[in-house]
Amino acid sequence: MTGIPPLPAELRTRARGLGRRFPEGFVWGAATAAPQIEGSVSAEGRTPSIWDTFARIPGTVAGGDTLDDADDHFRRWRDDISLMRDLGIGAYRFSVAWPRIVPGSDGVPNRGGLDFYDRLVDELLASGIDPFVTLYHWDLPQWQQDAGGWAARSTAYRFVEYATHVTDRLGDRVRHWTTLNEPWVYVFLGHLLGVHAPGERSEAPAVRAMHHSLLAHGLGVQALRTALPVDSHVGIALSMSPTEPATPEADDVAAAERNDLYRNWLFLHPITRGEYHPLTGELFAEPIPIHSGDLEAIAEPIDFVGINYYARAVVRADESVAVTRAQETRPDGTYTAMGWEVYPQGIADIVAQTHARYAPEAIYITENGSAWDDEPAADGSIVDRERVAYLLGHLDAATQSTDAGLPLRGYFAWSLMDNFEWAEGYTKRFGIVGVDYATQLRTVKQSGAVYREVLAAHREAA
Ligand code: NOJ
Repeated sequence: MTGIPPLPAELRTRARGLGRRFPEGFVWGAATAAPQIEGSVSAEGRTPSIWDTFARIPGTVAGGDTLDDADDHFRRWRDDISLMRDLGIGAYRFSVAWPRIVPGSDGVPNRGGLDFYDRLVDELLASGIDPFVTLYHWDLPQWQQDAGGWAARSTAYRFVEYATHVTDRLGDRVRHWTTLNEPWVYVFLGHLLGVHAPGERSEAPAVRAMHHSLLAHGLGVQALRTALPVDSHVGIALSMSPTEPATPEADDVAAAERNDLYRNWLFLHPITRGEYHPLTGELFAEPIPIHSGDLEAIAEPIDFVGINYYARAVVRADESVAVTRAQETRPDGTYTAMGWEVYPQGIADIVAQTHARYAPEAIYITENGSAWDDEPAADGSIVDRERVAYLLGHLDAATQSTDAGLPLRGYFAWSLMDNFEWAEGYTKRFGIVGVDYATQLRTVKQSGAVYREVLAAHREAA
């Protein structure tokens, strides 16, 4: 690892001023996910996930990139933790790889996989970093895909078995648990649009995957409650994009309402209310395979809602678009390398909307960040001005939520380091730490140094 780069005085002052504006106890984190950073895909008994399979189909992932090496975190985890310590990060959100824990359909847990996360958690705690565990961040074991994947009800039950193995091993030390990461994304991008694993393209498997994901979540929460000490916190991380109509025309307003439900509340509504949102039927022609008792299980109370916020959606009516009949427009503005609008106000808007609609006990921003075409200077330093502006802008907007007394309890930067960005492969870089994939050298970007300063000022103010 290279050192922490020095900051221009003006930036340092801004970062420190911002850090002091967050309430005491605010959690400062960084996030990653197993398939995006670990590599070592067949080490210690791990078997393929649907992403290993999918990435091998020509044309699915930019540049034909695979998960094989990624950030080599499976071997470099100690260094990565000391990097977090250097940055002053208080909490680390990572995911456990299901195919490491349960490599085969016989369901037998794999000691080697469990040992890895056991050591990781111990080292995090020894470093003063609070582990936030995500149980499912899109790496379904291929053996379960072969049994039908999320379109099959059995996946919900297999998820619970897997989750139980993880809590048996880590439950005594990990206090924050997330069942699923962004179910909307893997359900619809994976089953309706075909651009994520497993690459299906029709509504029937998508609707089934939606329901079975909700069921996995609900049954998972029940199992976690039984297994974990009472002071544990259980939640889910949802992708959210606050939605606005492009014009006040009735058609566009109705399209925005459908888009809003689809992108933001499709999962949270049943989780908090025990029923699907009444407009859900307008979105899908296919029936939702609800069995008796499912909705009660899905509504098992949770302790927090995690929001992954990147951009807003401004939409207009378009009958040719599946499900929502809404088309995203491209308002004037600044766009990241992903083509996503930079819209800091959206972070405060979505927290306010989530609170107004469902009043969860606690909200975390479980992901927020941006991809840019970072250009390392001749000396290797990475002055990522756009990412710095994005970070400071979003943190500034997040103080609207904390100032208003909303229960926003923490913020996790996506991502700790550059990593495998799904269909975009390694071309899109989200890290506040850069990774040179040829050498695995980590370089703290200017955004990493800025984040460190925010955290230090917050700590000192406490
Ligand atoms: C959401 C996902 O949870 C994460 O895996 C992904 O890399 C980021 N957003 C950026 O697209």
